[in-house]
Amino acid sequence: MKKSYHIINYGCQMNESDAEHFAGQLEDMGYAYNPDFHQADVILINTCCVRESAEKKILGKIGEMKAVKAAHPQKVICVTGCMAQKSGKKLLTTYPQVDLLIGTAHVNNFRGILESYLAGRKHAQHIFTDLEQIPEEFEGNFVRKSSFSAWVPIMYGCNNFCTYCIVPYVRGRERSRSKENIIAEITKAVGLGYKEFTLLGQNVNSYGKDSGAQDAFSDLLTAVDAIPGVERVRYMTSHPRDMDEEVVKAVAESKHICHHFHIPVQSGSNKIIKAMNRGYTREKYLGLVKLIRSYVPDAVITTDLIVGFPGETQEDFEDTLKLLEEVSYDVAYTFIYSKRSGTPAAKMANQVPQEIKQERLEQLMAVQNKHSLKHNEKLVGRTLEVLVEGPSHNNPLVWSGRTDGNKLVLWPKGQDNFVIGSKLNIKIEAAQTWLLKGRPSYE
Ligand code: SAH
Ligand code: SF4
Ligand code: F3S
Repeated sequence: MKKSYHIINYGCQMNESDAEHFAGQLEDMGYAYNPDFHQADVILINTCCVRESAEKKILGKIGEMKAVKAAHPQKVICVTGCMAQKSGKKLLTTYPQVDLLIGTAHVNNFRGILESYLAGRKHAQHIFTDLEQIPEEFEGNFVRKSSFSAWVPIMYGCNNFCTYCIVPYVRGRERSRSKENIIAEITKAVGLGYKEFTLLGQNVNSYGKDSGAQDAFSDLLTAVDAIPGVERVRYMTSHPRDMDEEVVKAVAESKHICHHFHIPVQSGSNKIIKAMNRGYTREKYLGLVKLIRSYVPDAVITTDLIVGFPGETQEDFEDTLKLLEEVSYDVAYTFIYSKRSGTPAAKMANQVPQEIKQERLEQLMAVQNKHSLKHNEKLVGRTLEVLVEGPSHNNPLVWSGRTDGNKLVLWPKGQDNFVIGSKLNIKIEAAQTWLLKGRPSYE
């Protein structure tokens, strides 16, 4: 029987993309995907450490592997990704069931690492110490999870050092891939039937700046938009400090770049934005929102917010609530500040008590939900173009898809003559906070 693998993935889209590269190398080695990790010969846990809650969940999963490894000592347990990078050797000593610990710089030579482990069966860690030393291109193949939507990393790492964030310490400095390689990868994927492309980076607006290029991101967007067969282009994440008119213009003038702007503001208080080292002010941010809406009147604007950053007073928090009312986001992803050791904010005075953080989160979500519903209700009666994703995760009798603005749309199964990954016009009949419901307009 063919040997098999299973990947348990946590974290952001960059991790999902990395997981696809791990999968590709495993399949190149002759392993087949196994949906049940208990049956797999190689189990890979691809980790995230952006918040403590993520880490706790992952440590629980690594803990589960103790019994798995004890029952089947021949299985290979690999822990990869950001938490592996951060914890290093400590994790290997605490969890001896882990055979291989692989940091974020070793995605593309995973195959070699696994092969040498299998030859000697010696526990090993592969953690980078030099933040610059990360090769750009993946040598192996990769296996994409979706058959129509593709992640495309355009840059790695982050130079921003927002004071709360661990990412720059575990992903290293910014390195941009060459435009030629990105275009070639997308062109190849179009040939395989991919329609939607999400350009990935921690701060896509600084694409190309590591080699001194100007406006490289807007140029790249325009070039990707022009590739025949590309139907939708998305990108994440934008940094409000670096997002400029050139990018907004490129989106407005494009045929296929989605009118979705994810611009994480994190806080509405100038004092907190500064303490976070975000590099903009509330006023400058509001100017960006205005600019986006002037070029792209139907823009869907979303954000990330953190409550309870050290020193956040009731007044600061109210500034955030006011900002939410002022901007009226379609969606806001809200997080409770999580202390990450090694980051400057972890050492700041005036850490906010947990109950206050929790209370603020609930208040924030209540305000946001009102806006999300309002935006969705405005779409009732409209016919929207939806990219069909497949049956809904919660109800197999219902199809699901996404609008250009990344809104989830559900419609009942019936006499369907479309394929997954195609575009379909759906007449919206009902709106909820998190989704829209409708019917194909041909019915
Ligand atoms: N590079 C992206 C993604 C970073 S992580 C960006 O800058 O937007 C995604 C989100 O997690 C961030 O936007 C932030 O809102 C949140 N986040 C990061 N570190 C955090 C921390 N220590 N506690 C709580 N939320 C955090
Ligand atoms: Fe973290 Fe800030 Fe970099 Fe985003 S831009 S990954 S929040 S340091
Ligand atoms: Fe998490 Fe690493 Fe992404 S810490 S959010 S998986 S870059």
